[in-house]
Amino acid sequence: MKDVYILGIESSCDETSVSIVKNGKEDIATVVSSQIDIHKSYGGVVPEIASREHVKNITFVMEECIRKAKMKIDDIDAIAITYGPGLIGSLLIGLEAAKTISFIYNKPLIPIHHIAGHIYANSLEKEMKFPLLALVVSGGHTELVVMKDHFKFEKLGGTLDDAIGECYDKVARVLDLEYPGGPKLDALAHEGNAIYSLPIPLQDQSYNFSFSGLKSAVINLNHKYSQRNESLNKKDLAASFQKVAIASIISKTKKALIDYNIKNLIIAGGVAANRGLREEIEKLSNELTLNITIPSIKYCTDNATMIAAAGYYAYKLGRNADLYLNSKSNDTLN
Ligand code: KG4
Ligand code: ZN
Repeated sequence: MKDVYILGIESSCDETSVSIVKNGKEDIATVVSSQIDIHKSYGGVVPEIASREHVKNITFVMEECIRKAKMKIDDIDAIAITYGPGLIGSLLIGLEAAKTISFIYNKPLIPIHHIAGHIYANSLEKEMKFPLLALVVSGGHTELVVMKDHFKFEKLGGTLDDAIGECYDKVARVLDLEYPGGPKLDALAHEGNAIYSLPIPLQDQSYNFSFSGLKSAVINLNHKYSQRNESLNKKDLAASFQKVAIASIISKTKKALIDYNIKNLIIAGGVAANRGLREEIEKLSNELTLNITIPSIKYCTDNATMIAAAGYYAYKLGRNADLYLNSKSNDTLN
């Protein structure tokens, strides 16, 4: 069978990334230009600055990726692009670049939902087996999704308020950790003991999550200590928060796996890099005898490799778009 090369473009938030992937699984070349150093002085991503940086970076990132791959655009079969969800100004820069190449080189344009990209990061590790349960844990999403086949998504539940990554970043701020605080909070949690009592969120029969109450509990606890002129142990607070946040994710994931009798579990999104979550998933896998896939750390946070990998399966299904394709800041997984 002829090899299929997909060029993926991702610019939904603060990473400008271009990648070329062979047959949905082999990373030929990936370039990620991160803007973290620019946004960290503001404590979070500033949308207007992010889009301006994408404008500056996109051509260089694209050229660098093609050079690294030692390929020509003529060798590419299709262009996969994150059309949404994300920051609208940022998305538009990637989309315009994708449309331009698609038009000039006459290559099919494949629209990819950002979360579908995170899910397909797993196909870079091993072939996805269906039915599977995808636990999506990112800065903007926390969802449980059943897939019976490629691009057949059935959402069981999701967060009712904050996403898990968003909650990590906000709690990290309380602990004076620099943006993005999630990874730093994770590291700190491993140095502490979970001695503070925090409420376990939403212990109900649904597949939904809720993290805003947990976030407020950490803020209130911190406030209480500072009013008393006492200091909290940051490592212990990080450990206490992480324990409860992950326990909530694991309990809903376990329920979904049992209720739907699913043995294949994949994890998607930036928080899939979390060491505590990876450890607990491993335990769950042993308990329920699961076949689990977790992306390598470099494919957990935003990158174009996952978009190109998803693009391969979408291309095979003929999910092409025309040049009227527009970016969407919000869209359900499809
Ligand atoms: O998937 P992603 O790169 O962007 C979105 O699509 O949202 O996820 C970024 C999120 C940030 O909130 C970041 O703090 C979090 O993932 N994150 C982590 C870890 N690594 C990244 N959160 C907890 N522990 C980590 N190790
Ligand atoms: Zn993402």
